[in-house]
Amino acid sequence: METVLITGASSGIGYELAKIYAKNNYNLVLVARRIEKLKQLKREIKKSNSKIQIKIIEMDLSESKAPKKLFFLLENDNIEIDILINNAGIGVYGNFLELSHKEMEKIEKMLNLNIIAVVKLTKIFLNKMKKQKRGTILNVASTAAFQPAGPLMATYYASKSFMLSFSEGIRYELKNTNIKISTLCPGPTITEFEKMSKTKKFTDKIKMMSAEKVAKIAFNGLKKGKKIIIPGYLNKVSVLTSKVFPRELLLKIIKKIQQNK
Ligand SMILES: NC(=O)c1ccc[n+]([C@@H]2O[C@H](COP(=O)([O-])OP(=O)(O)OC[C@H]3O[C@@H](n4cnc5c(N)ncnc54)[C@H](OP(=O)(O)O)[C@@H]3O)[C@@H](O)[C@H]2O)c1
Repeated sequence: METVLITGASSGIGYELAKIYAKNNYNLVLVARRIEKLKQLKREIKKSNSKIQIKIIEMDLSESKAPKKLFFLLENDNIEIDILINNAGIGVYGNFLELSHKEMEKIEKMLNLNIIAVVKLTKIFLNKMKKQKRGTILNVASTAAFQPAGPLMATYYASKSFMLSFSEGIRYELKNTNIKISTLCPGPTITEFEKMSKTKKFTDKIKMMSAEKVAKIAFNGLKKGKKIIIPGYLNKVSVLTSKVFPRELLLKIIKKIQQNK
């Protein structure tokens, strides 16, 4: 039985990924800060599949030592990871110049979580996968990664562009190995993300996908070893337009979408 490690499994896309992998008989390692939510998910999954092993770990991945701590926790328990899903991520909304000191602190946490933790986890688990001679990594970026930039969420968009570029680069480096890296690029999805990043009116303006659907597409795409997984027709179109529309026009459109009017 293979084991999948999912970060940010207490809600949204990570939560749904956990349920899909459980349904397909994978052992689970689930990480997030809200342990009660993970306990509840574990109970729920156990009811329908008692055969799989589920380990839940309470951890703030924005802390600098967290990735190493997580790796050694699993080493101590002799848990080998076949699939690593770097899903945990947050956004911070607002005009950059007007961000408060507190919001800047949140941005630092966001960059630590969306970028630094992913780089560290990817490296540390890749080293192990090299010894295992196989492995799979799914990094969760966003359709935002294809846009020239994200006015009103500039640091978040930049973090997702990093994620796409980083993952594609490493995938190429590993092309003659048994280790595959894919990138999931969801568009607007119904999760707790809006509430957390305070993009309040996103839901009203854009047709959003369910987290369950995104997770299902991610699961199938990863199985096929796809390089980039873009769930849904509309999101594919938005990626396509980002390649042909002038950058200035795209920036105008994105700002309009992001505006909380
Ligand atoms: N929703 C969208 O529209 C959308 C679109 C494109 C891409 N994405 C990406 O999809 C991924 C999943 O987000 P989501 O939409 O499912 O949002 P979500 O429902 O808010 O889930 C985010 C997950 O990340 C975890 N997390 C947040 N901060 C953490 C930290 N410091 N340490 C460990 N875990 C942490 C949260 O758990 P705890 O709070 O319990 O720690 C939660 O489980 C993110 O990378 C996001 O950027 C989302």
